[in-house]
This record gives sequence, C-alpha cells and structure tokens, in this order.
Amino acid sequence: MKILVIGGTVFLGRAIVDEALRRGHEVTVFNRGQSGPALAGVETVRGDREDDGALAALVEGRSWDGVVDTCGFEPLTVAKSVRALAGRAGAYAFVSSFHAYADWPALGVDESMPRHACAVDASPGDVPYNALKAGCERVVEEGFPGGVLIVNPGIIVGPGENVGRLPWWLETIARGGRVLAPGSPHRSLQLVDARDIAAFLLDRLADGGVGRYLTTGVRGNTTMGELLAACVEATGSDAELVWADEQFLQDQGVSPWTELPLWAPDIPEFAGTWTASSAKALAAGMRCRPIAETVADTWQALRNGGCPAPKYLQGETPVGLDKDKHDTVLTAWDARGLTHAVDARG
Ligand SMILES: NC(=O)c1ccc[n+]([C@@H]2O[C@H](COP(=O)([O-])OP(=O)(O)OC[C@H]3O[C@@H](n4cnc5c(N)ncnc54)[C@H](OP(=O)(O)O)[C@@H]3O)[C@@H](O)[C@H]2O)c1
Repeated sequence: MKILVIGGTVFLGRAIVDEALRRGHEVTVFNRGQSGPALAGVETVRGDREDDGALAALVEGRSWDGVVDTCGFEPLTVAKSVRALAGRAGAYAFVSSFHAYADWPALGVDESMPRHACAVDASPGDVPYNALKAGCERVVEEGFPGGVLIVNPGIIVGPGENVGRLPWWLETIARGGRVLAPGSPHRSLQLVDARDIAAFLLDRLADGGVGRYLTTGVRGNTTMGELLAACVEATGSDAELVWADEQFLQDQGVSPWTELPLWAPDIPEFAGTWTASSAKALAAGMRCRPIAETVADTWQALRNGGCPAPKYLQGETPVGLDKDKHDTVLTAWDARGLTHAVDARG
C-alpha cells in the first residue's frame, strides 16, 4: 500500500511507520520537523497541519491508499486535512482515544457507548480538551468521502513512549532501593503496546479501512504488581517495592495517575479505567504481546537513548513523582508503620 502518516516521528506514529516499512509499504510522513529527524526509507514532507497551503503542497501530485492521522486533537484542524485529502486517499484512519467516550474512565466502555457531545466546529474551551477527540472523529466520519477507520486506544505503552508512564517506573526502579508502589499489587490493569495497535491498524487499512475499534489490551492482561516486578526484572535492579495504602498516598498529596503513573485509585470515578472491552478488535485479529516483552523492550529503548524530550508530560502536567517528595512520603509511610507497631504493643 501507499500510506501517508500525519505525524509519524514519535511513539505510536513511529511504530506505525516502522511496521508499514516492515510490511513493504510505501510511506510518506507529513510533520513540521520539530519532533525528530527525517526517517530513512520514508518520503518526508514538511509542513504544519494547521496550514492549508502546506496541506495543498502535500497533496499536489500525490495520492495514497490510506492516510493515518496520529496527531489530530482539534476538530477544526482535522477538518483541514480531511478536506485536503478527499479524493487523494482511499481511506482515512483516525487515531482517537478512549477519551472520546463520555463515560470513560468511570465505566468500562465499548464501541456502542455514547461519545462526548462535541460538535464538528468545537474549539478548545468549548468542551473539555479530551472530549475534542469525539468532535475530531465526527469530522472524519461526516467529511471524508472514502473508508473511515477510527481506533480508540486505551493506555499505550511500548518503546519510545512519550508520556513517560512506563519509562518513569523503569527509571525509578532502575535506581534501586525502596520504591513506593500504590495500593494493591493485585490491582488489575489493561495496557496495550503501540506496536500491536500499529499492526492492527495496518491490517484494517489493508482490508479497506472501515469501522470503529477500541484498541486496548486484554482486560486484566497484567496487574500493578506484575508490571512493577517486570520493571525490576528488566532493569536487573535491587529495588524493593513498598506498597502504600491509596488513601495514605492521597492524604500525603500524591496525585493519582500522574505522580505515580498508571495508578487509578479504587474509587467510582476511575472504576472503568481498566475494564474497557477490546472484544471487537480481538475478534478482528488484534494480537497483544505479553506485558513483560513490552517492559523489556521499553527499557532497552531507553538504554539506547530513546528517551523523548521534553520528558515527561501528560498535556501540561509533569509525569512522575519528584525524588524528594517520594522520599518524604516513604519516610512518612515507614513512620506510620512504626506508630502502628507501638500501638499494637499497647
Ligand atoms: N499515549 C496514550 O496512552 C494514548 C492513549 C489514547 C490515545 N492516544 C492517541 O495516540 C496518538 C499518539 O500519537 P503519537 O504517539 O504519534 O504522538 P503525538 O504527540 O500525538 O504526535 C506527534 C507527531 O505529530 C507531529 N505533529 C504534531 N503537531 C503537528 C502539526 N501541527 N503539523 C504536522 N505534524 C504535527 C509531530 O511532528 P512535528 O512535531 O515534527 O511536527 C510528531 O510526528 C494521539 O492521537 C493520542 O491522542 C494516546
């Protein structure tokens, strides 16, 4: 196939480009050149997707079997590429998110559940930022005159991860010593490797690129304990995991999700975080590698200098607990244990 990737230089986009090249596809990437150098074996077209002129130059004299839009976050921006690519690509694959679904993360969503009521002309400020993905989806669905494929990833991990959730755990555990871990080691997670999404998305494009799929891991494909143990194993660290009570951590001002990445507390607002249904994608052929493989490959990529900059952000929020705060909270947790021991002795 001839494939255009909007983005393509980092994490998921890069995984899609790598997999497409591995399959012998002809790949064009369109990006500004700010996130990384041009890739070997790929046609690179520089430009800003906000700029109609740059999009016009991109499509001049070119056409593709499919376009993969990895970096659409605002409906009015996505509308520009949809307009420019109409008649130039057979199918438009849009990388959306669980965030398009109104009930995630409170409920375990599936493809039939309602999406945010985000209009095709909504701007940031009209609706919560995450909800804009629903508006982007509608722009593609209503505006592209060809196959439309929507993938809604869950939490993505893997080599080159640029949010920094798994990389932060790996780097923290690699330093060794006692490491705070949130809640229960038995807490079930549901993670998906970027490379598995890439393979599935390209399979679907080869089939005509039509449909909507939640693309996350098998429900319960790991637990917090197994994930962190895999980090200990991969890094060869002597780290000792210290499992601290969730309420205690919150009382100490530790923010779930961002400061201790992948920690979704056991409260109603997060009840569906790790219980989405990937049944449709799995039935259509999505394969999910074991989490231990993802962890080992992510550590290898970090050691090879694959650490993205700036590190690590979720939107504007830094990811990962500051070392001093970590040590202060750990000391407080130990002191709490001592208090209990004294109490127990009476
Ligand atoms: N991480 C998760 O757990 C998660 C979960 C659910 C969904 N998702 C979705 O998965 C996707 C992640 O994609 P990704 O990993 O490839 O990273 P990304 O940060 O979404 O995309 C970055 C790529 O887009 C290019 N780009 C950014 N702005 C551009 C512009 N104005 N014009 C042209 N190119 C532009 C960048 O190159 P230049 O900077 O050089 O232009 C870079 O190649 C996102 O859509 C995200 O919403 C992620």
